[in-house]
Amino acid sequence: MRDINQFTVTQAVKNSFKTEPGSRFESLLQGFIDHLHDFTREQNLTQKEWIDILNFLYDCGKISTPERHEFILLSDVLGFSALVDMVNSKGGATEGSNLGPFYLDAAPRKALGADLSDGREGVLVLVKGKVTDTLHNPLPGAIVDTWQADASGTYPIQEQDQGQDKYDLRGVFEADADGRYYYTTVLPKPYTVPYDGPVGKLLRAGNRHAWRAAHLHYIVRAPGMNTITTEVFFENTEYIDNDAVFGVRRSLITKIVPAKPADTEGLELAKTPDAVCNFDFVLAPEG
Ligand SMILES: [Fe+2]
Repeated sequence: MRDINQFTVTQAVKNSFKTEPGSRFESLLQGFIDHLHDFTREQNLTQKEWIDILNFLYDCGKISTPERHEFILLSDVLGFSALVDMVNSKGGATEGSNLGPFYLDAAPRKALGADLSDGREGVLVLVKGKVTDTLHNPLPGAIVDTWQADASGTYPIQEQDQGQDKYDLRGVFEADADGRYYYTTVLPKPYTVPYDGPVGKLLRAGNRHAWRAAHLHYIVRAPGMNTITTEVFFENTEYIDNDAVFGVRRSLITKIVPAKPADTEGLELAKTPDAVCNFDFVLAPEG
């Protein structure tokens, strides 16, 4: 390795790892080294730029806590998270979108028709739809796990110090015999991703805003089907065409319309909604 140069160093580094031939780990590691070295050669990266990048990553680590994962945020604003969702989307199934930082895995079970708003101000919207497989067969008992921001764009988990319950504005529903789910909640508003750290600095350096289009988060699962993690957005709302984390897909946009008596017929609802939106989830079989 004494005669190493900028053209032979890449192979030398790859050869230095004794990974299992043909393994996934080997493929990921070698691919990463190839791209990192190519990037360095293509850009003629200076030593100052190199240390700036490493210090940026160091700062991302320094500001991270169990509640704040700056690297996930970095992945989000670079479209890396969106790309991972896209390459893993199954044909015919609902497209995936960002999990975001506020998921809690022990959200309370709620009965169909429950109201998640807990008396919060805002437009009360009936959210309803069906969970089916890719052949449109309903999936009774499918689990619809949802969480969201309030009408000021805040998640209750962010305001626990002001007496908010972190489990508010979230619920886990079980679809009925026809695969239907329905509940009322307050319409969420857009919010900014955290921009007081290194990722915020990056956004400012690139003249970008930190706003997310308003959305509802979902994880939907059923036995024998691939679980989907996604978000539902609303037509004609702010940032729908320039979401800071590239979470919006055309297929994930629904319409909010005034609620009519026919919308609530046959549904036992805890509250009478002002508006209604419909979104059907489609799950693909496992494998
Ligand atoms: Fe969110």
